[in-house]
This record gives sequence, structure tokens and C-alpha cells, in this order.
Amino acid sequence: MARPIDALLAAMTLEEKIGQLTMTEGSGHGVARDVQTAIRQGGLGSLLNVHHAPTVRELQRLAVEETRLGIPLVFGLDVLHGHRTIFPIPLAEAAAFDPALWEKTAAAAAAEATRDGIMLTFAPMLDLARDPRWGRIAESPGEDPLLGSRFAAAKVRGFQGHALSDPMRLAATAKHIGAYGAVTAGREYASSDISERSLLELHLPAFKAAAEAGVAAVMAAFTDIAGVPAHANVALLRDRLRQGWGFDGVVVSDYGAIAELVPHGVAADIAEAAALALNAGVDIDMMGGAYRRGLPAALARGLVGAEAVDAAVMRVLRLKEQLGLFDDPYRGLSRSAPADDGLVRGLAREAARRSIVLLSNDGVLPLPPTLRRVAVVGPLAAANRPMLGPWAALGDATPATTIADGLRRALPSCAIDVAMGTPIDGADTSGIADACRIAEAADIIVLCLGEDDTMSGEAGSRARPELPGAQRTLAEVMLDLGKPVVALLTSGRPLIVPWLVERASAVLATWFLGHEAGHAIADVLTGAANPSGRLPVSWPRDVGQVPIFYAERPTGRPAEAANRFTSKYLDLPATPQFPFGHGLSYSRFVLSGLRISADEIRSGDDVEVAVEVANDGPAAGQATILLFIHDPVACVARPRLELKDFTRVGLMPGERESVRFRLASETFMFPGRDLSPVLETGEIEILVGTSAAPDGLLRTSLRVIADREAEPRRGAIPEPRTESGPGR
Ligand code: NOJ
Repeated sequence: MARPIDALLAAMTLEEKIGQLTMTEGSGHGVARDVQTAIRQGGLGSLLNVHHAPTVRELQRLAVEETRLGIPLVFGLDVLHGHRTIFPIPLAEAAAFDPALWEKTAAAAAAEATRDGIMLTFAPMLDLARDPRWGRIAESPGEDPLLGSRFAAAKVRGFQGHALSDPMRLAATAKHIGAYGAVTAGREYASSDISERSLLELHLPAFKAAAEAGVAAVMAAFTDIAGVPAHANVALLRDRLRQGWGFDGVVVSDYGAIAELVPHGVAADIAEAAALALNAGVDIDMMGGAYRRGLPAALARGLVGAEAVDAAVMRVLRLKEQLGLFDDPYRGLSRSAPADDGLVRGLAREAARRSIVLLSNDGVLPLPPTLRRVAVVGPLAAANRPMLGPWAALGDATPATTIADGLRRALPSCAIDVAMGTPIDGADTSGIADACRIAEAADIIVLCLGEDDTMSGEAGSRARPELPGAQRTLAEVMLDLGKPVVALLTSGRPLIVPWLVERASAVLATWFLGHEAGHAIADVLTGAANPSGRLPVSWPRDVGQVPIFYAERPTGRPAEAANRFTSKYLDLPATPQFPFGHGLSYSRFVLSGLRISADEIRSGDDVEVAVEVANDGPAAGQATILLFIHDPVACVARPRLELKDFTRVGLMPGERESVRFRLASETFMFPGRDLSPVLETGEIEILVGTSAAPDGLLRTSLRVIADREAEPRRGAIPEPRTESGPGR
């Protein structure tokens, strides 16, 4: 029996087919008249950025009632970290190292967005990012492929739930495949030129995890890899994504990116651009009109076959079918908002608290209850919009809690004085005198520094990811007063501030935390919440160290202070200011007794690794335990550390618990010399700790016995070098 969508395809004209592959945009509450005409003519299959329920209803009515075939539209929007209620930016939320939280916030965003008629979100953003100059690091889960993969799977589960037809869930889009985060020098939209190995080991795992979790759509990146733009990359989209991973969902272009194949230098005209993209497997053309303008000519010239058009249309129709649109094109629209959104706000506050990373603390935090007067100083002290971050969807309608308001609420019997000191950007220092006046009268200064929301996100690259404007001048004046200074960094990236870390009593990464920013920050400063965020990216000391990440490969000449001819800088340490996984707490977690259930593992087996975690500090808290491996001798050099699992444990003061990890033999596989996966016989180090800082890790080892060795080798953990180091 023919399925309805097969029958639809058979009945469609070429114009209607191309219509299904075309997505255009509205502007919140409306769309232009020509867009309405295009809908009536069957010339559009989906829309983005229309998010006003009555408008969605009316446009859907046009599609269903006034077109020849009555095919419903899909409405898409960037619901990245919240819809109406804004949660922390992805980089911040990644710091929670908690898939259950990631899933909950995605589900809550989906529930809000579907009420506005949205069915498809262009999220999660999964681009691995190791360069804080790149503005989109804010949207990314950070530098690590395993962390990114867990984030991907959790977000897909949260957005999509068990069935796309659930009217409270959204179809998710894993974006942007591939290696957008590797753009040259962190410059937005620039070319990336990386090895196949980096692509495979670093940039693709999160997308594979999303595909395995059943993600409905994948978006191609604006950028190219070594001259092949993602939108024309057959090896990536067709061979790897569709054939290799079995992804049978929709591939959507980025905004205008198919037409951009012309300026990219791989297509002579729009017909060639359209053919390249369709042949590579891009189904939906977002905004470029490239399919509408180019596909008829591409077909006529024989650049693309009619069956490729049909296959793409079928994937779009299947998405509509899975969303339940043929049964209820108005899905979600009749649900009214809950009378009380307190639960979602509560979740936003929890997510925000757990995203904060306490970078340094000389004991000034938590703030003592005896405080009488606090000066809240800096351009972010009473800032509202910036708290929401660069991609805040519809969050603008409600103001975020400012840091000053959060502190006022948390410390009702303490005087809170506020002064901006300087604007976020620009040279104006005229407010510093006022800031000094209130700071001099205070017991403590809470210094609210950082970026504006417009300084990160898309097209938010900064060659110098430092404090903008005159903020350093303000901070130095405050530090010179000799009072305790707690510095809060509002930003979409690690900010390079070694001088501040050296002098402030405490420094916290507070990112862009969303609507509950001020409350969450006050919770952490006062100790109502014990900070538990951990850095999902290495935090550099200097822009000259970038890109910087923990999973470096070894060098033949490891750094030695006394030997010039080793891997280091003459003018800077090579280590980051704070390593991946770093984050302090008001508890003190001590790890001991690392053990493993077997000395060896064979293909198909698994082993258990256990470690004791004790809370020796005064406060109840959450520890995050990271498990890394290191393969010291392999057919290709493996990174010094590779994250393979992580978990969290909550402990009361004085409490201890055994934390367990299960490692399957596949954990020790990696792409061999020819890039196909290998398991090699040999010793593997297992390292467990709370960050990637090498000196804090407990170590044990395990012998892997591969049944069929791809490249036999002798394997042993090498003894430390005793001979003299390398020379010139
Ligand atoms: C461009 C961005 O790269 C992409 O992430 C986003 O989904 C689209 N614009 C639509 O807003």
C-alpha cells in the first residue's frame, strides 16, 4: 500500500518539489506578502524565525487549505539554550558535566517553543572549539569530543523525547558539520584545514553521537575543510553521515550557504551551486533561494538527476510525517502557557548555579553572613540583556536578574551599593571616581567584568579575547584599594586575564547564565549553593598559546626547563592558566584507592575502575570525577590524556564513596594508520582525577590483549627518561 507521502511525491510538480526543499524566513510576528504568495503556490516547505502562534497558525492554514496538495509547513527556530526562559549558554552548561541536566533544559525549552508553533530547532550546536577567539565557542560544549558526544546525546533526547510526534517536543538539528570550530586563527567563516584524523577523532564524534541518538536533522557548516565547503562535501555528508552512520534524516543548509558556494570558489553559478549541494546530500536550502533559482537549470544541464531531487523531497516529507503534521498541522498551538512558570525558572536557576566555575578563591568565599556593606562595581553589575547571551531566542521579553539584584535579595541586611565604573566597551573612565567612592566604604568589592552579549556568538570573533574597553583600568583601581575583590567574568569564552587572577581574592567564570543569572551568582557567592562547575575548555594565560587543549600529543622533545631545545615558549609557560576540568568548591575532595577489576582486557570484555572520593571539607558538595586513558606506545602517537568517562557524586562533609566506571574494550580503540579502528595489544594507563592537571591524577594500568592485532607491537609503559635530553 502506497504511503500518503509516496502518493504526494508522485503528484508533485518540479516547482512543488523544489518548494519542499526551500526554507525562507519571517520576522517573528509576520512574513512578507511575497512569502505568503510563495506558500500559496506550494513554493515553500518550511520557514524560520516565525514564532508568533497566531502567525504560525495562519501561515499553516494557507499551506494546508490554500495549496494544491495541502502539505503542511515546518517552522524552525534557533532554540539553543532556552526559548522564552533562557538557560545558560551551551559552553556554560557544559561545565555542569551532567547529561541529566542538559536533557532537562532541552526538554523545558522544547515545551516552551512548541507552544509558539515551533517544530524544529537548529540545535544542539556541537562544534568542538579550542580557540577562544572564535565567538561561537559560546554555543559549543567545549574542547573535548567525549564531553561533546555526551552533550549531543542528552540534548537530542531532551529536545526530541521518545517520538517526534509528541507536540511538546522539537525535532533537533545537530550543527554544524564539520570542523567549523577549527577555523583559521579563530576568525569567523574562515577556512579550516585539518587532518582526516582530527576530523574523525575530534570534530565528528559529537555528530555521530547525535545521529545515534536519532537526531532528526543535521546542518552543514558555512566553512570548508581544505578547500571543500561542507555544503558540497560528498565524503562528509553522503559517504560518512548517511552511508557510514546510517543517518536518514534531513540535512539542512546554513543560512544562504548553498548560494555561497559561488563566492567560496567551487561553483561558477547558482545552478552549479545547487547541484553540488544536492548531490552532496543537502535537502533543505535555508534562505539562499539557490534550489529555487538553480535546480531547474541544473536538471536541464544534467548536473543533477531527478531521483536526487525526489530523494531529498522524500526526506522532508518523512520529517513532516514523523512530526505528525499530516494528522495535526497545528500541533502545539492550542496548548496554553502554564499559569506558573516557576518550575522552569527554578530549573534555569539550578542550571545557572551549576554552570558557574570558581576559578580561584583565597578563602574570601563564601561571603560571611556578617558582611555589612558590599560594593558591586563594574559594567555588568546591573546589566540585564547581556546576561542572556548572544543567542537568546525569545528571552528578551522578560528581564534577567542582574548581579546587583541577586545580591540584594540574597543579603537583605547588607547594604549593596552599585556603580558601573566604565561601560563594557570604549575608553570612558569617568565613572571610576564614583566606583571608588562606594568601594572605599565597603567591606568587599564584587567586581562585575566581562563582555557584552554581542561580543560572542556568530560573527563574534575577537583577536584579543580579553576584557574589552577600559575595564582593566577600573579593575586595577579597585584592586589597588587593598580590599578583598571577588571578580565575576560574564562572557561567552575564557577571557585572558592573568593579572586579575594574580591579584583578585577570587575569580569566577559566570559566562552568560540566562534569566536567573543574578540569583544563581548570589547563591554561589553566599554559599547557598556550593560551586560545582568544571571548565569544559582549557583557559589560556595568553592569546599566543591558542589553540590550547589538554589532549595534546606527545613530542619527541618534552619541555625541560634547563634545555632550550624542548617544546616550550621562551616568553610564556606552555600550560594553561586553568586546565580542562578545573573548578573549585567549598568542599575539599580527596581521591584515593584507585583500583581496577582485572590486569588485562581482551576484545569484547570490560573492566571496572573504582576510586574512593572523600569530602574532607566543611560543606556538602558535588565532585566531578574524570577518567582519562593514555596509550603510551601505539602505531600512531596517542594524546597524553583522553577523556573516556566522567561522573558526579554528592558528598556530605566527612562522607566518602566509591565511584565506579565500566570500560569496554572499545574504549581503547582508535583510528590506526589507515584511519580504520584498531585495538592494539599493550599497556594502557588509566588516570582518574578532578581535572586534566597531570599532577593531580591517580594512575593505574591495564594490559589490552587484542585478539587480532592490526599492527602487532611490543607495548609497555616506558620508564621515565634517564639519558640526557635532546640537543639541537
Ligand atoms: C546561521 C547560523 O550559522 C546557524 O547556526 C543558524 O541556525 C542559522 N543562521 C539560522 O538562524
